Amino acid sequence: MATAWDYAPAPEARDIVRIQERYGLFIGGKFVEPLSGERYTTIDPAREEPLSEVAQANQADVDRAVKAARGAFDGTWSKLRPSERAKYLFRIARILQERAREFAVLESLNGGKPIRESRDVDVPLAAAHFFYYAGWADKLEYAFPNRRPRPIGVAAQIIPWNFPLLMLAWKIAPALAAGNTVVLKPAETTPLSALLFCDVLRQAELPPGVVNIITGDGRTGAEMVAHPGVDKIAFTGSTEVGKAIQRTLAGTGKRLTLELGGKAANIIFDDAPLDQAVEGIINGIYFNQGHVCCAGSRLLVQESIYEATIAKLKRRMRTLRVGDPLDKNTDVGAINSKQQLDKIAALVQSGVDEGAEIYQPPCKLPERGYWFVPTVFTNVAQSYRIAQEEIFGPVLSVLTFRTPDEAIEKANNTPYGLSAGVWTEKGSRILAMAQKLRAGVIWANTFNRFDPASPFGGYKESGFGREGGRHGLEAYVALDDA
Ligand code: NAI
Ligand code: MG
Repeated sequence: MATAWDYAPAPEARDIVRIQERYGLFIGGKFVEPLSGERYTTIDPAREEPLSEVAQANQADVDRAVKAARGAFDGTWSKLRPSERAKYLFRIARILQERAREFAVLESLNGGKPIRESRDVDVPLAAAHFFYYAGWADKLEYAFPNRRPRPIGVAAQIIPWNFPLLMLAWKIAPALAAGNTVVLKPAETTPLSALLFCDVLRQAELPPGVVNIITGDGRTGAEMVAHPGVDKIAFTGSTEVGKAIQRTLAGTGKRLTLELGGKAANIIFDDAPLDQAVEGIINGIYFNQGHVCCAGSRLLVQESIYEATIAKLKRRMRTLRVGDPLDKNTDVGAINSKQQLDKIAALVQSGVDEGAEIYQPPCKLPERGYWFVPTVFTNVAQSYRIAQEEIFGPVLSVLTFRTPDEAIEKANNTPYGLSAGVWTEKGSRILAMAQKLRAGVIWANTFNRFDPASPFGGYKESGFGREGGRHGLEAYVALDDA
């Protein structure tokens, strides 16, 4: 019997992307020095090595960016023929495709996600969002018949670190298609793909000020939310910050959409195709190291197939390759930051302390960088923190059920309601479950699938508003009777 069939290293070349030593803020179509005079270092989480110095924007910088966006809104963008706006969006989409490899490498370098994912998921989907919303730009009258859709004005957009370029696309594409201008802030740990995107805007000859990109941490985000010149806030991130934003905005009349955390149930019935389901479980929780708001972080297995499912799952987990994000064979990359690694470790410890049974496959982790072994917990009670709280890491909690009603009750028993998965052979059961699950997105016999035409968003503490599809435009238009 063969013993060792190890994969040879297959690293993607990193020299395709040129990272500058330092970046300014992209305001009014060019890079400017931050008025704050402050910068911080952004790193490669897989190597704990510095990549670049980026600006920490303060209130004066935010003000400058908002004014640039307002000037572009009043001066050019809101007056352009919609088909002209579409032209710019198509250009952006095509340039993203042309420069796909560069973006994929940069996304993996700065964020830690496997190149296989940034290459095959993040970047193509980001381009697809620009293509999709380019198509709507001159058809808004059809999207909202008889309601005279008009742009809102300046949108402040705050995005997280788990899908930096993709979240940028989700935010910018519909805003621009509907005739708004934007100030966007990437997350503090992953600013580089947004800064490279500024070069795409230059290539596309987008009028100055239509898109402004500023960097900084939560303080910059808070200044954006509080700025009186902003008409709409779009936020993706933690429920905690989402709530704080709601408090700040109460009574201001500013429009708000929130896409927050999740604790999705991935529900496996005894008639499900088990090998496929196991792939769906793996993809549901270990994709992007579990840094996914819609991750299938709670596995609900029907009792009669529990043993078989867990055995297959553990066997599959032993084949996961954890390591260098730039290696084409890597399945699970680096944890995005030290802060996130600490949070994952603390929640996993709470699972052990509360009495759940932990399984981690044998796995050799690199010496430097932030890593976490793919983990599954069995013997989990619904009250445990690992069954209630968003871990946002490669950690799965397994629960069981006997009847569909019990599955629904358990699936809905969290403060969240972002996504869910149902695995069964019966179409009627899928539809019946989908009616009763309180989740914005429900996948059937698949998981973590995205399409720009499909709306995405949550219930309860997962937020409100939808991104993607025609629904995603609604957040960026004023309507006659609304
Ligand atoms: P966070 O909510 O603090 O950060 C998300 C974005 O909001 C970043 O751009 C950040 O700079 C900005 N921000 C932070 N404080 C702000 C404030 N007071 N006002 C305006 N903007 C602010 O999330 P963090 O701390 O990075 O992660 C904590 C947890 O949040 C994660 O462990 C995960 O559970 C959850 N999370 C959920 C995400 C999702 O996709 N729904 C994305 C990121 C985090
Ligand atoms: Mg935070």
